[in-house]
Amino acid sequence: MQTDVRPAEMARINTPELANAFIEEQLQALRAQIGSNKVLLALSGGVDSSVVAALLIKAIGKQLTCVHVNHGLLRKGEPEQVIKVFGEELGANLIYVDAVDRFLDKLAGVTDPETKRKIIGKEFIDVFAEEARKLDDIRFLAQGTIYPDILESVAGIKAHHNVGGMPEEFDFELVEPVKLLYKDEVRCVGKALGLPDSMVYRQPFPGPGLGVRCPGAITRDRLEAVRESDAILREEFDKAGLAGKVWQYFTVVPDFKSTGIKDGKRTFSWICIIRAINTVDVVEVTPEYLPAWLIDRLVRRITTEVEGISRVLVDYTPKPPATVEYE
Ligand code: XMP
Repeated sequence: MQTDVRPAEMARINTPELANAFIEEQLQALRAQIGSNKVLLALSGGVDSSVVAALLIKAIGKQLTCVHVNHGLLRKGEPEQVIKVFGEELGANLIYVDAVDRFLDKLAGVTDPETKRKIIGKEFIDVFAEEARKLDDIRFLAQGTIYPDILESVAGIKAHHNVGGMPEEFDFELVEPVKLLYKDEVRCVGKALGLPDSMVYRQPFPGPGLGVRCPGAITRDRLEAVRESDAILREEFDKAGLAGKVWQYFTVVPDFKSTGIKDGKRTFSWICIIRAINTVDVVEVTPEYLPAWLIDRLVRRITTEVEGISRVLVDYTPKPPATVEYE
């Protein structure tokens, strides 16, 4: 068993050679820990759980079962990418759960941000536990815990376990192969494992997903407007060479309408807010000032391609006073 303390002499993994040495060491450690037992993993498609999945597939193959819960709050193309990369290319035992209606029905009419987060968190555990109950002989639960999670947990800032809160009937032992790594090292290992760049260099994405970018009560049409505008923003940042340089960027569609004109007629439709920020530690954040030509392009594409949007605003507020997310 690994300890929760990173040894002082452990080199920062920042080259393919160091990543490969870590992978070899982990494959042996994982096989020794797990033996012929079965392992369960909640695979969100984010960097950490994806790297853990790729390591475990290499170490123990079909002894791993990955569960991907689509709660309807993922970005455009994400569930499809998980199925393609893990189900098809890496041949994982992958259970895909379409829980979209279940989550959105529970969230209907809920406006309070904390209540929304709680519903999303609880429903996730419920869906995951239901899938776990259907499987026999699972002995281990794998998690994408990384070193900052351990440090924050020691400091009392946040609960350590990503899938914390599993019902007591499960007494899984934990498998946490990247728990001593920093984020940049997890990315380096992911790259060495052959995961696609769009997964390895993915920007941070909150657990409640697009739910916090659809402020107020979530409706399917407004959620779709967030998803489509976010996809356009990501595409344009890619083309402009800003992806990977800007720390985090996304769109928000609040429950607020303004007047507009479409096909010569007056409309009353939502606004879309663009937020792009840079930071080191997310405690203090500065806005990324976008070139005028890019703003023009985004305004034109979002207002013509996204149903229900007639106005686009850019949010240049630093943190503090504003947080990164709107809820
Ligand atoms: P705020 O809005 O607090 O965001 O300035 C700081 C960073 O944290 C992310 N964030 C979350 N991540 N679960 C997460 O896993 C959450 O509930 C959550 N809320 C905010 C946010 O995207 C930003 O990177």
